[in-house]
Amino acid sequence: MGQALFRKFDMSLLKAEIHCHIEGAADPNLVLRLAQKYQLDMSDIIEDGAYVWSDFTSFLKAYDKASSVFRTPDDYRLLTYDYFSKLADQNCIYGEIFGSSDHAAQMGIGYNDLVQAMAAGIEDAKSETGIEGRIIMTCVRHLGPEAAIAVAELIAENPHPMVTGFGMGGDERMFDVQEFAPAYAIAADAGLGLTAHGGEFAGPDSVRDCLDHLNVTRVGHGVRSIEDPALMNRLRDENIVLEVCPGSNISLGVYENFAAHPLRKLFEAGVAVTLNSDDPPFFHTSLDREYQLATDEFGFEDDTINQFTRTALEAAFVDEPTRSKLLKKLDTHS
Ligand code: ADE
Ligand code: ZN
Repeated sequence: MGQALFRKFDMSLLKAEIHCHIEGAADPNLVLRLAQKYQLDMSDIIEDGAYVWSDFTSFLKAYDKASSVFRTPDDYRLLTYDYFSKLADQNCIYGEIFGSSDHAAQMGIGYNDLVQAMAAGIEDAKSETGIEGRIIMTCVRHLGPEAAIAVAELIAENPHPMVTGFGMGGDERMFDVQEFAPAYAIAADAGLGLTAHGGEFAGPDSVRDCLDHLNVTRVGHGVRSIEDPALMNRLRDENIVLEVCPGSNISLGVYENFAAHPLRKLFEAGVAVTLNSDDPPFFHTSLDREYQLATDEFGFEDDTINQFTRTALEAAFVDEPTRSKLLKKLDTHS
């Protein structure tokens, strides 16, 4: 064996993840198992045990199809348990998942059943590993503003201690951000933390729109903010946290390669960044890999990587006693 080309980052570093779509975290083997149970054909989206898709549109289609195997609350419990158990195996102490009540409703699962199932999956993983988790319920941008209002109303009318945030994923090229302001106002009134995907496929204006119209404190991806220096200053001054997902960005072709990815420039400009896996098996990644990439591809030292974890915990949509406990864990970990 030759000498390692790269400095290995310390695998014992603690981690936190605040941007992961639970359906997008589904292991292809779990999807195949459930597909067999429900006699569904997944051969167009899973080949040789891996997801297949070619661009953002076909990724979203594959994501929707994979989601269709989760047909009962217990399927969601199992999916959530599986994700959090794997996170804990990666030395992760805190995870936030994006849930989608629209995807679950399409399979006949009601909102409260979905939430209880995901919460049970988190609790099961917590009792075995100690990992903490919360749920960000999301609307789907391409389903439109009315559907988004319906999701926000469901959350507001059915409060649950584990549902602490409201978000928006889906196709950024559809609808104007402004149109989702009423949904975000309902979620804000309900006391939820707010985040939205922006600046992934759309340019910096989409990030500015999320700040101006949705009042988010975090932005999903937001990497294309790099194209607008005034926006970068604003992100830094207002301490807006970017949920950066480098592996996802390369996989989906937002940037051609890691050398072209702006993570380091964002950090050096003083923008608060975090490391996340987005839809890990779709992008052949994991939280572990994202942290490893931070060393191998972006050249960050362990202290800086720890700072990313601290930023995630500081920006987490979690109650203050739990945040303090998690920060203490990070600070006392050697
Ligand atoms: N839903 C799941 N993954 C997504 C992504 N990367 N961007 C937007 N919506 C998504
Ligand atoms: Zn995402």
